[in-house]
Amino acid sequence: MQKNIPFSKETIQSIIAKYPTPFHIYDERAMIENAKNLQKAFSWNTGFKEFFAVKATPNPYLVKLFSKIGFGADCSSHAELVLSEKTGVVGENIMFTSNNTAAYEYQKARELGAIINLDDISHIAFLEEVAGIPDIISFRYNPGELKSGNDIIGNPEEAKYGLTEAQIFEAYKIMKDKGVTRFGIHTMVASNELNSQYFIETADIMFSLMIKLNKQLGITFEFVNLGGGVGIPYKPEQNAVDIEYISKGIQKKYTEILVQNNLAPVKLYLELGRYITGPYAYLITQVQHFKDTYRKYVGVDASMANLMRPGMYGAYHHITVLGKENAPATHIYDVTGSLCENNDKFAIQRALPEIEKHDILAIHDTGAHGHAMGFNYNGKLQSAELLLRTDGSVKCIRRAETLDDYFATLDFDGLSSF
Ligand SMILES: Cc1ncc(COP(=O)(O)O)c(C=O)c1O
Repeated sequence: MQKNIPFSKETIQSIIAKYPTPFHIYDERAMIENAKNLQKAFSWNTGFKEFFAVKATPNPYLVKLFSKIGFGADCSSHAELVLSEKTGVVGENIMFTSNNTAAYEYQKARELGAIINLDDISHIAFLEEVAGIPDIISFRYNPGELKSGNDIIGNPEEAKYGLTEAQIFEAYKIMKDKGVTRFGIHTMVASNELNSQYFIETADIMFSLMIKLNKQLGITFEFVNLGGGVGIPYKPEQNAVDIEYISKGIQKKYTEILVQNNLAPVKLYLELGRYITGPYAYLITQVQHFKDTYRKYVGVDASMANLMRPGMYGAYHHITVLGKENAPATHIYDVTGSLCENNDKFAIQRALPEIEKHDILAIHDTGAHGHAMGFNYNGKLQSAELLLRTDGSVKCIRRAETLDDYFATLDFDGLSSF
């Protein structure tokens, strides 16, 4: 897939004059278009809803932008619940999918009226004790050997998430006996998966399970949440998934299984993160040093603290040298940050056009699990997030961290009496 950028070098230079590098910049127009296409693709399902996975890009401006289009929020922690609340996304517009959950997190979810999706059978008693049983409940199913996993989440049987098939029958029975009347079901077995067929198979497994649960327990389902995990083409040679194809495939299974067994209508939910924001942001960074030892290094002013994926998973992120979009890739570089970690590299032995001092690099596809995974090792500060609006203006949706932010939890004054 062609790796284009939605701005010119001159535009970025004028933005840098106000907001120093590094920063992540999100393309509002492209995000809205993609979000609307997703809704259109699934419009056959009355009640279809995408709960944007807040963890992918926990920025209230983006959560609000998507909520205006009709998305809810998928939250996994107390902080994400509060962020949604502050954004005005509450009640059943929140799906709370967490694991190893603390009492205060369930209490907050209950306070907001969120749909709670339990990750384990032992959490039924825990939830009842700490927050009470809501009238709607969902469980996360782990299909074990029925499904092969992928690199990021791993094999379902080795993944820490969800209930086994035997447990899920027991769990719904317990909830039914406790008087719960509204049920949903959830799974998520892959992350960054580009194989469209994968999601259709998952739907097949889930719909079939729902039939078995219905037959055995007499419960019906309001919704089925097929999770997140739709991948994006980080590499130029990869292709984007065909969301229409996935939707049609799921619709076919829905008709064959749920409609045929008189279990329809069931609302289809997704909680995509990467697919919604991933391709639509760029980490903008400037070249500050060169180093020529056993390899040629280009040192930039961003680091792994601003984008952890390459260091953490060896993930590929495409790099464009602004103004040299069409120049031949004649040089081989490692593009590095300044952390005292040798995996602080945005690219390893990458062919790029010749890079000069002060060149500006756009690191692609940083819109999901990018800024969100940022950290402060070596005292590196988190960068700003900017939104390139549809009218071409720029809105700062998160300022850059300052040294005062970094030191805010330390009491230097206390040193005098220590
Ligand atoms: C439970 C859950 N839902 C949704 C997501 C979003 O995944 P993705 O961004 O790959 O769509 C994640 C990601 O970790 C997750 O753990």
